[in-house]
Amino acid sequence: MKQAVDHKALMETAARARELAYSPYSGYCVGAALLCEDGRVFTGCNIENASFSATNCAERTAVFKAVSEGARRFTAIAVVGGRRGEVSPFCAPCGVCRQVLAEFCPLDMPVVLGTPENFKVYTFGELLPFSFTGSEL
Ligand code: THU
Repeated sequence: MKQAVDHKALMETAARARELAYSPYSGYCVGAALLCEDGRVFTGCNIENASFSATNCAERTAVFKAVSEGARRFTAIAVVGGRRGEVSPFCAPCGVCRQVLAEFCPLDMPVVLGTPENFKVYTFGELLPFSFTGSEL
């Protein structure tokens, strides 16, 4: 049976994770909270680098933490972003993060975007239709 997802709690966790963002170059801070089928929640923040392309987004940090701890089945992700000191009304995952999520997340997985006070729930399939996955190979 699918567990009920507390979207607001997941957004609050993402907002807390955002406080740890390391973004001295862009000043843009992102937090993600990834809920696993077994109930664990892995958080992530963006981690920038002086060699800009080495930057890791919050969503990928969360996915990589989860997979490296043995979690591969995910039931929801929440993302909160904004310039340092202010939360943006909407921060959508970048294309690279969507592709990484496509490796592990079902098309009907909820993706919660917005702020902890005002968010919308999308499905992963809405964010990345026609994705390229391992089933092609
Ligand atoms: N960023 C994320 O962490 N997630 C996204 O999906 C969009 C962008 C980060 C990367 C970079 O540190 C900053 O936001 C500005 O692009």
